[in-house]
Amino acid sequence: MGSKNITWHNGKISKKLRQEKYGHKSAVLWFTGLSGSGKSTLAVDVESRLFQKNIQTYHLDGDNVRFGLNKDLGFSKTDRIENIRRIGEVAKLFVDSGQILLASFISPYKIDRESVRNLFEEQEFIEIYVKCDLTECEKRDPKGLYKKARNGEIKGFTGIDDPYEVPENPELVVETDKMTLEECTKKIIRYLQEKHYIK
Ligand code: ADX
Repeated sequence: MGSKNITWHNGKISKKLRQEKYGHKSAVLWFTGLSGSGKSTLAVDVESRLFQKNIQTYHLDGDNVRFGLNKDLGFSKTDRIENIRRIGEVAKLFVDSGQILLASFISPYKIDRESVRNLFEEQEFIEIYVKCDLTECEKRDPKGLYKKARNGEIKGFTGIDDPYEVPENPELVVETDKMTLEECTKKIIRYLQEKHYIK
């Protein structure tokens, strides 16, 4: 049930004012890709680089958010949809607060990523496809989850028996099975500079 009898209350400090004060634009960097593709590792590295440059930044990570805000959600289709919907709304608050938010979620369904994109103004949503071959993700298997999925201990694992829909028009693609972490981070920072998000 949606809430009734509610009215939006405007603050005095606009997004634009915050961006001017911080000296950079605000946006969400949305990292999508298979489990083990390197989304979180890359987001953590980019966040450090941005922080060093005195940029207001924060990282929301799939596993971490599921310890708190989304601990009531599992990995069914409806739960994944709700997971991404909530994160989209949280990301919107961060962007409104003038920050560069990094969100690393498998976000396997195209339609959900598009719904998040539609919450934002055109330049504010930067979709980054963290591309990595399934075979390589499975070889890395940092949490041993692919092994469990193959053994049938986990059902509905993305890439094994649950789909991952590859982004068709992402703003950026980084290939973590072909590029080093440093190269991927540089590519993202360069993009932010060239498009004048940051100096
Ligand atoms: S999403 O599909 O809803 O976007 P999210 O990014 O929040 O997923 O969480 C993915 C993480 O949850 C994976 O990196 C992995 O550690 C863990 N996980 C546990 N079960 C599954 C599953 N069935 N499919 C994918 N990831 C899973």
